[in-house]
Amino acid sequence: MSEMKNQVKQIVSLSKMPMRQRHLLKQICRLADERDLAVYLVGGVVRDLLLKRENWDLDLTVEGDGVVFARLVADRYRAGLAVFERFATARLTFPDGLKMDIATTRRESYAQPALLPTVQPASIEEDLYRRDFTINAMAVQLNSGQFGRLLDPYGGQRDLLARTIRVLHEGSFQDDPTRIFRAIRFEQRFGFHLERATLGLLAQAASTNLIQRLSGPRLQNEILLLFAERDPARAIVRLAQLKLFRFLHRRLRYTNKVKRTVTAVPKALAWWVSRFQDSVIDRPIVYLMALSSEASQAVVTTMIRRLALSREQARKVSAGGRLVDRALKRLTKEGTVRGSQIFRLLEDFSDEALVLLLAKQVSKQQGVRLSLLRRRLTAYIKNRTTKTVLTGRDLQALGLQPGPQYKTILGKLLDARIDGVVTTEAEEWAFVRKWLG
Ligand code: CTP
Repeated sequence: MSEMKNQVKQIVSLSKMPMRQRHLLKQICRLADERDLAVYLVGGVVRDLLLKRENWDLDLTVEGDGVVFARLVADRYRAGLAVFERFATARLTFPDGLKMDIATTRRESYAQPALLPTVQPASIEEDLYRRDFTINAMAVQLNSGQFGRLLDPYGGQRDLLARTIRVLHEGSFQDDPTRIFRAIRFEQRFGFHLERATLGLLAQAASTNLIQRLSGPRLQNEILLLFAERDPARAIVRLAQLKLFRFLHRRLRYTNKVKRTVTAVPKALAWWVSRFQDSVIDRPIVYLMALSSEASQAVVTTMIRRLALSREQARKVSAGGRLVDRALKRLTKEGTVRGSQIFRLLEDFSDEALVLLLAKQVSKQQGVRLSLLRRRLTAYIKNRTTKTVLTGRDLQALGLQPGPQYKTILGKLLDARIDGVVTTEAEEWAFVRKWLG
């Protein structure tokens, strides 16, 4: 800390920050000045300001009672407030939707590794010391007279320049094993390297069963954040090197085949997104599906449970295995296939499963079949919006007794529409009458 007192005062410019955020920060500083409280911007946003990367997270910390201060801000600016007493933090939501986190500068103690810590108020230097990596352990003061002053007691800037990820103390990964995944995330995102001792500590922590102690939602959060990065393939290789997939399931293997599928996902995604702008893809889930695409159903089911996936995510992931292979086989076979046959083959697939299907074909490097598949997928997506004019009510009007027949007839009618066998309402009536009689 004395090192910090001797530091030359360095000012970080916030001029690139959007006006609204900067203006809000200035207002809040005035409030903090009035109360004689020191307030700082901390963590990832400071790192990204120095890296000149966009990140306008408003993560603030206050030397004093952050929650009391957050209430004051909420009152003054009519912001919504959610308080997490246990962690001495609060989240504000301003009327225009802008969000801000305000915390109390604190130290943390871990009663048991991998569990959430208990916190006590402490100085800003201690608050920075409890953090994961030096590059994330810097603050920018916001009080007037000190506005923009960088606090960097642990060499964060030096490590940013050297493109290094370094923990602040030996127990860091033990305290919080989510940092194992965070280290890999930052390493891949920034193209940084893990400092030697840090890599040793990480590998050591990864080789124990610490990660097993993480709750499902915490593990899920880390895995999905990692898979949400721009190009998760390298991070996935890193996870494999460190034998970390065993924490999803001990029988999950990163085989060459899986690796080829994972590596093909970006190309499949790029094509999909350029073609079907209306389809919203859960990208991290596609990677999880690719990763588990060769595993047995039992392995996938246990993995889904371990990660505490939502029902929707679980539905997608559990349908990613054999069914995709079977559909792929049929879809890449030359010859005539009717639009309705493709429609029936794929109608229960999520869009994520379709991207996986495409990635599997990309990985096979068979250009002709890939073109065929793309054409068929394009036709399928178009056919998905096809509707029949007639509905159940029309069948009722024809005197048809309610029952499973309705589904069959309307299904046949839709198939006929998709295949262009019927194209008008009159033809639909004729089709139904013929069917009934
Ligand atoms: N932090 C930590 N240990 C963790 C999680 C977070 O020390 N396990 C600290 C770091 O100082 C981090 C800050 O809390 O910078 C904010 O955390 P978070 O928002 O998760 O990360 P960012 O660094 O902002 O990363 P990203 O850019 O991915 O949001």
